[in-house]
Amino acid sequence: MIIKANGDPISLNSCSIFPPLALAPMVGLSHSALRLLVVELGGAGLFFSEMLSVGKLPTENEKISPFLTRTPAESPFFYQIFSGPGLDVVPAVERLHTLNAQGIDLNLGCPAPALRKLGAGSFMGDKLIVETIRKIRSATTLPISAKIRLGKTLDEKVLVSFCKMLESEGVDLLTVHGRLHGEKFCRKVRWDWIGKVKNTVTIPVIANGGIFTVTDARKCLHDSGADGLMVGRGAAIRPWIFADIARELYGVELAERPSLAKIYFRFVELLEDRFQSERRLGRLKQFTHYYAENFAFGHHLASGVQNANSIKEAGEIAGKFFEKSDEQ
Ligand SMILES: Cc1cc2nc3c(=O)[nH]c(=O)nc-3n(C[C@H](O)[C@H](O)[C@H](O)COP(=O)(O)O)c2cc1C
Repeated sequence: MIIKANGDPISLNSCSIFPPLALAPMVGLSHSALRLLVVELGGAGLFFSEMLSVGKLPTENEKISPFLTRTPAESPFFYQIFSGPGLDVVPAVERLHTLNAQGIDLNLGCPAPALRKLGAGSFMGDKLIVETIRKIRSATTLPISAKIRLGKTLDEKVLVSFCKMLESEGVDLLTVHGRLHGEKFCRKVRWDWIGKVKNTVTIPVIANGGIFTVTDARKCLHDSGADGLMVGRGAAIRPWIFADIARELYGVELAERPSLAKIYFRFVELLEDRFQSERRLGRLKQFTHYYAENFAFGHHLASGVQNANSIKEAGEIAGKFFEKSDEQ
């Protein structure tokens, strides 16, 4: 079934997002190598960086920083930033202009303990959120997006007024992860609650959380009425998930996916291409932890790569595993 109602691009003044499918910001995972792999497999219409500290961004060297490395193919591209009390967001925004940002995403949903200390992500108070968005808005004409969760507790009034506030302050696009701040990933995602946001604001809403298959994508769009979808862990398990969704829900013609082994080794090549040698193995291990889910005996792949001391050794372990595995 092709979903006509949701089949329009998301249009933000300077950029058009189609298919309206985004690769989520994920520390250690959604770097240039995974983004390029997703570009090659097709189907994603929007890319985000891993979250970047407003304090560190202005001095981060893009020539060597694994967080800033990016190719023009990874486009449209929104850099995700997090800020907190005492930090000035303007120099970070100015820096993002020099990096050809196509949008700026403010992380307002992350509950990680590291952000608690900084008063960032889901720990940012409303007053500071307003100040920060105003400063970003005054420093850029680029689209501003915000990524949120459903709130501290399930409270429709609070959620709706928070989202209206974000919209009225100049946020152009909202991504909603359908869980509360304190909820772990094992908790069920509330796609219908994302619908409450969609019904309230006039800016486009992207739904996020728990999308691992085309069936999930279809149900999430149905339950939320969102304008687009964001996929996180599902994209590390199946980097071709965007292509599958784009084909089935948006009628986009794309090539069939290569074999699982080919995709894995292409990822290794991209890591080698994009990162200095000491930056590759950790990222391969993190990716393999998810990719291994494609295989009945994937834990052998994950633990083998986990114990490897070099990317070459990891490749040999993976090669032997793929030879024996039934999954193609
Ligand atoms: C390893 C990892 C790192 C993440 N890093 C970020 C991040 O930098 N910024 C952010 O807004 N969310 C981050 N998230 C949350 C994801 O963007 C996404 O909201 C979450 O994984 C739910 O979507 P999913 O079910 O499709 O994975 C991270 C999630 C994971 C698993």
